Amino acid sequence: MGVIVAGLGASLPEKVLTNQDLEKMVDTSDEWITTRTGIKTRRIAREDEPSSKFAIEAAKIAIENAGMKPADIDVVIVATVTPDMMFPSTACIVSSSLGMGEIPAFDISAACSGFLYAMNIADSFIRSGKYNTALIIGVETLSKITDWEDRNTCVLFGDGAGAAVLTRSDEEGILGIEVRSDGTKGDLLYMPAGGSRMPASMETVKNRLHFIKMNGREVFKHAVTKMPAIAKEVLDKAGISVKDVSLFIPHQANQRITVSTGERLGIDPEKVYSNIERFGNTSAASIPIAWWEAYSKGMIKENDIILLAAFGGGFTWAAAVVKWRRK
Ligand SMILES: CC(C)(COP(=O)(O)OP(=O)(O)OC[C@H]1O[C@@H](n2cnc3c(N)ncnc32)[C@H](O)[C@@H]1OP(=O)(O)O)[C@@H](O)C(=O)NCCC(=O)NCCS
Repeated sequence: MGVIVAGLGASLPEKVLTNQDLEKMVDTSDEWITTRTGIKTRRIAREDEPSSKFAIEAAKIAIENAGMKPADIDVVIVATVTPDMMFPSTACIVSSSLGMGEIPAFDISAACSGFLYAMNIADSFIRSGKYNTALIIGVETLSKITDWEDRNTCVLFGDGAGAAVLTRSDEEGILGIEVRSDGTKGDLLYMPAGGSRMPASMETVKNRLHFIKMNGREVFKHAVTKMPAIAKEVLDKAGISVKDVSLFIPHQANQRITVSTGERLGIDPEKVYSNIERFGNTSAASIPIAWWEAYSKGMIKENDIILLAAFGGGFTWAAAVVKWRRK
């Protein structure tokens, strides 16, 4: 018995925000953003577009891509740090919108590593025999918690959703997943207010504490060491050589992090997928959006080995190795 990724999907807002647009909002330049991050444009949700809108659209595509119906899904897991509300979960909104009935549905919080954390949970559920088929979604509307007056962060992030359907199979598709965290570094990338520690008040709003705060240099330093290390670990445990990797899809945080991670792993640059130029950092959504794009472009064939790796707030980091099998 194995677990395969039977379907993928993604959804992005229509609105495009360019570096030139940002030049008019904060003291920055297209040249700075391009050379430091690789980002040229990002998609931004409208005021009336919550995360669930993109999660639902991505889920519909993934379910159809798997040749399934919403009724075939046994559990829904949504990874996000920008849920529609603190509660109920965005997963409950997705499952009810798609008419999935009274199946279990819940959100998880693991920032940019969220999609791989969700994959780890779904894979374990299926392997344990508890459920046959899981829908996992990484979705963010980071624009809603971005401080558009802070040039250190506002140039980096974008919105969107990606989804995958995991199901039981005779074949082995998910060859390994590793997930880690280090809560001692939580304050290097976080949103201070709006939770029970610092509930929303006039004061928290005035002090701009409902926005992402980040020590970019520290995050960068840890990302470029933790991502390749865990990717190497997942490959070693699965008994797979780096040479056998057909496509490496890292979390799209910064083009320099992507290039450095690929180099440290010794993967050919043409096997390292990047779309950060167009979409920026979409946190939990970045891996499934990139995966869906690569698949849609015909870059993934049956039996290809796909390596995924992520790093984000928490700190959290994770990697997975997947053999592409659709049957
Ligand atoms: C944020 C990041 C792009 C900054 O790049 P960097 O090369 O480390 O830049 P530094 O932080 O050293 O800042 C260099 C200078 O540029 C300035 N700067 C920051 N943002 C700027 C912007 N948008 N435009 C122009 N200048 C900017 C800084 O103020 C700093 O100026 P100073 O030296 O006078 O203080 C980079 O650290 C990064 O990508 N970190 C990881 C972020 C991330 O991925 N977060 C999500 C988690 S996965």
